Formats: sequence, structure tokens, C-alpha cells
Amino acid sequence: MGRVQDRVVIVTGGAGGIGAAASRAVAAEGGKLVVADLDAAAAANVAQEIVDAGGEATSIRVDVTDRAQVKAMIAAAIDSFGELNVIFNNAGMNRPRGFMDVDEENFDQIVRVNTWGAIVCTQEAARQMIAQGKGGKIVNTGSIASRQAFWDFVPYCVAKFGILALTQATARGLIEHGITVNAFAPGVVDTPMWIGLNEDIRAIHDQPIEADPMREFATGTLVGRAAAPEELTPFLVYLASPESDYMTGQMYMVDGGQVLV
Ligand SMILES: NC(=O)c1ccc[n+]([C@@H]2O[C@H](COP(=O)([O-])OP(=O)(O)OC[C@H]3O[C@@H](n4cnc5c(N)ncnc54)[C@H](O)[C@@H]3O)[C@@H](O)[C@H]2O)c1
Repeated sequence: MGRVQDRVVIVTGGAGGIGAAASRAVAAEGGKLVVADLDAAAAANVAQEIVDAGGEATSIRVDVTDRAQVKAMIAAAIDSFGELNVIFNNAGMNRPRGFMDVDEENFDQIVRVNTWGAIVCTQEAARQMIAQGKGGKIVNTGSIASRQAFWDFVPYCVAKFGILALTQATARGLIEHGITVNAFAPGVVDTPMWIGLNEDIRAIHDQPIEADPMREFATGTLVGRAAAPEELTPFLVYLASPESDYMTGQMYMVDGGQVLV
């Protein structure tokens, strides 16, 4: 028996660095995966890898900010596997700007994907879990930017502090249905997200092309380096498994000791 045996798990942003690693790790523990992402081809590749390794997975294209697409994602989980037990609200993005250059479009895009997307997915997943009547688990992706704010990251920090609020509020509201809500908060993780972050930060600070500001930022953790996505997944498996049933409403730092709360 795996630690997530036969649980049906949706991972949004499942084609990305953390989401793909989480999908593989949960599948390896017996979970049945719906890999959901804006990038349909990359999501299909992750699902195929899982199936090739002997696991169970399907994939679907979704924009988490679009309710009709989120409903279709939930329906795909039911069509493929009969129920929904866990959703990992992991889809996210950032476009850093110095605070004085943040405009409405930059703010709206970041908050809409990171926070509104998690709200819509939580609502639609909870609707399904409540109808099933046997509880469920919602796992949100926060960040060190949920606990500390940075000048070049204001919309992202607002969005990720919002994930802390969403986690607390929905844990209070959904516990009567046996649904727990937790979040985990990575620090600097070596994923494709870094490529764009490095480009934006170099542009803000007029740094040369060789500069690697994200790697430099990671040296400020107690552990002294960035994480590989696979270093986060044991904790995500735990949050998806019955082992974490007594935990709800919390955000857990998995950040190499960057923010001490
Ligand atoms: N990499 C880090 O250092 C880091 C640190 C803290 C938190 N995070 C958070 O972890 C999560 C995963 O990030 P990652 O580093 O794996 O990034 P990534 O860019 O590798 O993956 C993000 C995935 O989300 C998908 N996505 C983006 N917008 C979407 C939308 N509207 N609908 C559906 N899918 C969408 C992308 O296509 C991509 O596959 C994000 O929420 C991010 O904010 C990352």
C-alpha cells in the first residue's frame, strides 16, 4: 500500500517544476493523478511518464482563472477515476517589477493567477468533495513571499499573502465537511520559473547576463542553497496522505530556513 493509495489527486500547474515533481511523487505512493496545466502538451508528458512508470494518471489543459475550465478539470477527475480526494493548488507565476513600476496589468495578472485561481479551484473542488460526503484535502502553494514582502515582488507578495488568508479562512469554513486545508511555502526552488525571474530581476537592476540573482538570493537561506523540486515532494505526499489528517489551517515553510516564523 502506498501512502496516498487510490486517492484521486489534481495537481494544477502540474507540468511545471514543483507540480510535475509532486505529481510523480504522489503517483509513486499510489495516488491517481490529474495533471492539469495551461501547457497541455507538457501536462500530457508528465501524465505519460507516470503511466510508463506503472502509475495512474491523466492530464487536462486548464486555465485556473477560468471557472468553466476548472469545472471541466474536476469533471475529468470524476470521469477518469470516479471521485476527487485531494487538490494541490500549485499553478502560479510572477513578473517582478520594481515597486514604482508596478501597473494595473502586472498586478491583475499576478493576483488573478496565483490567488483568484486558487479561490476558484478551491470552490469547485470543495463543491465536489462536499457532494461526495467523505471529506478531502486542499493543499495550497504559498511562498516565503507569503510571510515576508520584497520591493521587487509586491504583486506576488500580495498574491501569496492572500494564499495564507485563503488557507486560514477555508480551513475554518470547510472543516464541517471533513475537508482540511493546508499550505506549504517554498523558498527558492530551481524550476523553469527561475528563468523568467532572473531575466526580470536582471532588467530591473541593470545586471549583466551572467548574473544569477535567484541563486544568489538562495545563498541567504540557512541551508545556503536553492532546493530541487524533489526536496519538497516528501512533505507534499504527507499533506496528501491520511498522515496529516490532524493538521488544518496552517502554512508550513519548506524553505531551507529562509524565513523563520
Ligand atoms: N520556484 C520557486 O522558487 C518558488 C518559490 C515559492 C513558491 N513557488 C510557487 O510554486 C508554484 C509552482 O512554481 P514552479 O516553480 O514549479 O513554477 P513553474 O513555472 O515551473 O510551474 C508553474 C506551472 O504553472 C502553470 N500555470 C501558470 N499559469 C497557469 C494558469 N493560469 N492555469 C494553469 N496553469 C498555469 C505553468 O504553465 C507552469 O507549468 C507556483 O505557485 C509558484 O508561485 C515557486
